[in-house]
Amino acid sequence: MTQENTVLKSVDVTRPKRLPRYTSYPTALEFGPIDGKSHDKWLKSLPICEPISLYFHIPYCDKLCWFCGCLTTISNKYGPVEKFLEVLKQEVRQTAKKTGRLKVSHIHFGGGSPSILDPADFRSLIDVLSECYDIDDVPEFAIEIDPRTVDRDKIFAYASSGVNRVSLGIQDFNLKTQEAINRIQTVDLIEKTMRDFIGAGIERVIFGLIYGLPYQSIDTIAETILTTIKFKPSRIALFGYAHVPHMKKHQKLVGEHELPNQKERQAQFNWASKMLTDNGYRAIGLDNFALDDDHLFTSFD
Ligand SMILES: C[S@@+](CC[C@H](N)C(=O)[O-])C[C@H]1O[C@@H](n2cnc3c(N)ncnc32)[C@H](O)[C@@H]1O
Ligand code: SF4
Repeated sequence: MTQENTVLKSVDVTRPKRLPRYTSYPTALEFGPIDGKSHDKWLKSLPICEPISLYFHIPYCDKLCWFCGCLTTISNKYGPVEKFLEVLKQEVRQTAKKTGRLKVSHIHFGGGSPSILDPADFRSLIDVLSECYDIDDVPEFAIEIDPRTVDRDKIFAYASSGVNRVSLGIQDFNLKTQEAINRIQTVDLIEKTMRDFIGAGIERVIFGLIYGLPYQSIDTIAETILTTIKFKPSRIALFGYAHVPHMKKHQKLVGEHELPNQKERQAQFNWASKMLTDNGYRAIGLDNFALDDDHLFTSFD
């Protein structure tokens, strides 16, 4: 990241504007290339007495969701994922040579779909990580899960490797909406997945939902929220669908005539937000909702 692109552009607050998709700070639009020398210098200057946070991006998925705005590649073979993993392990070792063996306080696996990794491959990556860094008792070790790609063996591998939070990509439970975004996943599948995670001792679960998708209405959103609440996820992320077909060409597969307009999107968010807060969730930031046992909730007290 150069100094130039870490500085946020000044915003005229008197003119309402659409926000960029807000999943990191600064947002993805503010990031740029990093030159090797600065990268090295930053790594070597990390204070040895402070714990670090590690993010691993696994840029592969089994199947394309038409709404997807993430950085991913669809691979119906596992070979490319295996190759990527070998390079990732090298990168961990090379990075650790520069930083030294630091204590880790946060690990996050995002994607793409980290749940695409075979259990043995996930474990071997964690083994390399523990050779290079102190990852004993990491307070926050999270992984993003596509429920369609996870099974008991994988869940057991996460639990035995120290994962203590999972984020499930749900989007919406309505079948017509699921068909229109090329992502079918049943309530039964989510029920089984939740049971397996809780059985493995991973109880901190985030549900990722989206409003503003094809064919969604206040009624269908209300049903999705009702189903969600029954599962009692400790946190819910409720994102507005970012439709950017000029950047993500595959989003052209999402019929624009199927999308709710700006007013309907706002009404969907307001309705969902009210249902969640009426059911014990606290609204945090732009799009997160947490129960009182979630640290996002308690950190605001
Ligand atoms: C990396 S994925 C999570 C893990 C997994 N790949 C999955 O989809 O289940 C991150 C989440 O970002 C959200 N997302 C992806 N594309 C989006 C878009 N165009 N607009 C809003 N949210 C989006 C979805 O909720 C998605 O599940
Ligand atoms: S599974 Fe997640 S990352 Fe992969 S295409 Fe679907 S939304 Fe995108």
